[in-house]
Amino acid sequence: MTTTPGLETADPLFNPLDPAVLADPYPVYRTLRESDPVHWHEQIDSWILTRYADCATVLRDTDLFTADFRRIGIPTPDTLLSLQTLDPPDQTPLRHLALGAVRAQDLDALGTELAAHADVLLATLTPRGSFDFVRDFADPFTLTAITRFLGTEPPAADEEFARRNDDLDHSMDESLDPDAAEPGRQARAHFNDLVRSWLADPGPDGVLAHVVAHLPGSGVAADDVLVNSVRAFFHAGFEVPSRFLGNAVAALLATPGAWQALRAGDIPLESAVEELIRHVGPVQALARACTADTAIGGRTVRKGQVVTALIGAANRDPQQFPDPDTLRLDRTPNPHLGFGRGSHSCLGLGLARLEARIVLAALLRRGTWRPAGAPVVRPNGTLRGLAALPVALEH
Ligand code: HEM
Repeated sequence: MTTTPGLETADPLFNPLDPAVLADPYPVYRTLRESDPVHWHEQIDSWILTRYADCATVLRDTDLFTADFRRIGIPTPDTLLSLQTLDPPDQTPLRHLALGAVRAQDLDALGTELAAHADVLLATLTPRGSFDFVRDFADPFTLTAITRFLGTEPPAADEEFARRNDDLDHSMDESLDPDAAEPGRQARAHFNDLVRSWLADPGPDGVLAHVVAHLPGSGVAADDVLVNSVRAFFHAGFEVPSRFLGNAVAALLATPGAWQALRAGDIPLESAVEELIRHVGPVQALARACTADTAIGGRTVRKGQVVTALIGAANRDPQQFPDPDTLRLDRTPNPHLGFGRGSHSCLGLGLARLEARIVLAALLRRGTWRPAGAPVVRPNGTLRGLAALPVALEH
């Protein structure tokens, strides 16, 4: 295997940052699942789980597999303590506040606005002949969507914004690249300043206004944990959908007949979106800490060890999904783990699904698409995505 200089790993089966694995991790996931489905990875210092059933069990059981690493004696940096790194009951008031804010939003109205925005963006891009779907469309579109959802103005998508965002994404791989930790901490502190300014002066509607109005009596303190949680919501809210849209369009371009099948209108966009999440969902790995000795797949996982649910692999498990490597846009049922499971499952899945349907519909209204150059893969293992995807309309 070729490795990125400085990121060599001794693990014989799995180097998530190997360029070939970044480009296509699924063959390695299959090998892992078939040869060592509960695999101890020395460098990541974690068990790696690749079977659907094992991953689902871990995500559901927050008592045994906690997101709060302090429970196994690993300190959580101040900028990381949030609804993502707390479990019930500590997490519950934050999760309820966030869920209430999400449910209070008018997704139909937002959808109408975002569909018009997608059409305007495409109308300016298509006359160019070809454009970069990720940089020119998905990145600005998802930033507009999350800031409208929050009820604030999009921050300037300048060089610093892009760099801090890259630093955040890299920091998710810090077990493989420890140098990524400090820039990630600084990026979180930077985005926290933005979130503090929003919370001090929320708009009249949107998620932020709801959070600020319902904070008194919610059991949530107006402290750094709240700020970190809103930052996590904001970051997950634009970065993950943008990575997903890039992966999804690339998968459609690589599947003969996919655009035509969607244009024929026989396949509901809802099921196409779920299948794309299963097939090329951007979130690959979710880490949890084991709080008591337990057995998984014939292995003993010890109290204090880390367990990584490789959901990108679980979503290709043939025990759960027939013909798992084929993109079947009308696949039902489709109980994928792409949005997680249990008390940390995705809070933005309604918005994420809405955005994906809107973007696919807007693309389909224009015609059938073709690649206009080679995609560029981002160097991130945990959050898989593209840095560039040149596309053009077929004539
Ligand atoms: C295609 C797009 C998306 C995908 C694939 C996705 C996937 C996920 C996954 C797998 C988790 C579980 C994390 C875990 O168990 O540790 C998660 C959690 C989360 N997501 Fe998403 N997400 C997407 C879009 C969004 C959007 C648009 C938002 C905000 C509007 C959002 C906000 C969150 C938050 C706040 C959490 C943490 C929930 C908690 O720990 O309680 N996500 N997401």
